Amino acid sequence: SKKITKICCIGAGYVGGPTMSVIAQKCPNIKVTVVDLNQARIDAWNDPDTNNIPVYEPGLPEVVAEARGRNLFFSTKVDEAIAEAEMIFISVNTPTKTYGTGKGMAADLKYIELCARQIARVSTTDKIIVEKSTLPVRTAEAVKSILQNTGNGVQFQILSNPEFLAEGTAIEDLHAPDRILIGGDPTEEGQEALNALVDVYANWVPRERILTTNLWSSELSKLTANAFLAQRVSSINALSELCEHTGADISEVARSIGTDSRIGPKFLNASVGFGGSCFQKDILNLVYIARSYGLQQVADYWEQVIIMNDHQKRRFGNKIIKTLYNTVSGKKIAFLGWAFKKDTNDTRESPAIFVADDLLNEEANVSVYDPKVSEKQILGDLNYLHTRTESKNSELITIFDNAYDCCKGAHAIAIMTEWDEFKTYDWEKIYTNMTKPAFVFDGRNVVDRKKLLEIGFKVYTIGK
Ligand code: NAD
Ligand code: UDX
Repeated sequence: SKKITKICCIGAGYVGGPTMSVIAQKCPNIKVTVVDLNQARIDAWNDPDTNNIPVYEPGLPEVVAEARGRNLFFSTKVDEAIAEAEMIFISVNTPTKTYGTGKGMAADLKYIELCARQIARVSTTDKIIVEKSTLPVRTAEAVKSILQNTGNGVQFQILSNPEFLAEGTAIEDLHAPDRILIGGDPTEEGQEALNALVDVYANWVPRERILTTNLWSSELSKLTANAFLAQRVSSINALSELCEHTGADISEVARSIGTDSRIGPKFLNASVGFGGSCFQKDILNLVYIARSYGLQQVADYWEQVIIMNDHQKRRFGNKIIKTLYNTVSGKKIAFLGWAFKKDTNDTRESPAIFVADDLLNEEANVSVYDPKVSEKQILGDLNYLHTRTESKNSELITIFDNAYDCCKGAHAIAIMTEWDEFKTYDWEKIYTNMTKPAFVFDGRNVVDRKKLLEIGFKVYTIGK
């Protein structure tokens, strides 16, 4: 198959940035150019100090430092990069639609279509187009239709290569993936393109871990994988509520079922709910697709995963309000963590946003500390909900740069993210400075419950 020497990736976000950095690191003979319309983002990727790159991921600064300027480049010159590449990854955002048909459910494919049209306009040589973004099944058909109607004789092959990295462990996941999935056309040209991409990954991924399928299976497998993972979280969260009513302990239940090799131990941590840019968006999309084929039961089945997650987030806020004698008005509630999981600065769909919003509706004063999320981001997340005016949000929320000040004088602490540092705090000191009785609501089962009870805290842990 054709040897690839130049790759372009459109979209320098949480997926495009780390993924291409690792390809460049592992394939020093391939020139990799990551392009984006967002000048500030590209400037940050080019910051001489790789600790200032826009995506916080353990291990990523080192990878960027190794490859950047050698065979890894970040640029806003989209046309130029498209023109010279033999293989183009599309890694732009595919958010839930906020308007029109499918509003609140379907994936918004306008950025994908814009990329396809731009590629069609700029290309003068044959290219392999790789869908890296998560897309509804059969999107490749639309991309193909746009690319094949340019009339300039340029040949395009479309591949689907969904990304399975999880944030916070992106580099580990990219260095040693469980599998790489590549979907392509069964035609001779399709298989040749597919093999060209297999060869890229084979530079560091064992061949038996590189799965190949047809385009539609690959597209649908990505939505399916996220639906299954999210379903496990909603399942364990559903049972966490039953535990609280029966004296069973969700950690013990999780351990008991997780040792069954058919179930497996991972992804069974009860929590304040799943967040992140993917799970909700992809399940809503799956539900929308099933409904569009008239498959009502299939749609309802998967929609329940979201309904359960919304319930779990709301239930946590209600628990705080109820426990604080049914009123939090004027009380200080300290949030430890704002990111949707540890080891990332990403806050998209973070449960903290929704729990904070509920508490603000009750006129609580919410103080927030997160080791990696900025004040601007936290306020932006709340303002984006449009629940109240921006000035009201700024009045009710205070952001701190350390946990001890954040918790000073608080009536309650709500642990929203499982950052490791929360485990090693001086909890005696935090207790001393709080309003009594001092409550801790552990939404992640992260702190030592027994120790906190001994200190004098009133502790609520999900599922206990
Ligand atoms: P992101 O929002 O972080 O990055 C997308 C980038 O694309 C943005 O910087 C945006 O400016 C840029 N962009 C949009 N349109 C463009 C255009 N026409 N030309 C140039 N640049 C353009 O998104 P992300 O989290 O990296 O996700 C990208 C895709 O990967 C989505 O489809 C998502 O579902 C999928 N995905 C995400 C994850 C994850 O963990 N975040 C994991 C697997 C798959
Ligand atoms: C997910 C998929 O795991 C990944 O394969 C895909 O490429 C993108 O979407 P991500 O959203 O980055 O990755 O993180 P993930 O580790 O899956 O966590 C998602 C959410 O579920 C987080 O809010 C996390 O805290 C929560 N979660 C996860 C739980 O509440 N309990 C668990 O046991 C596992």
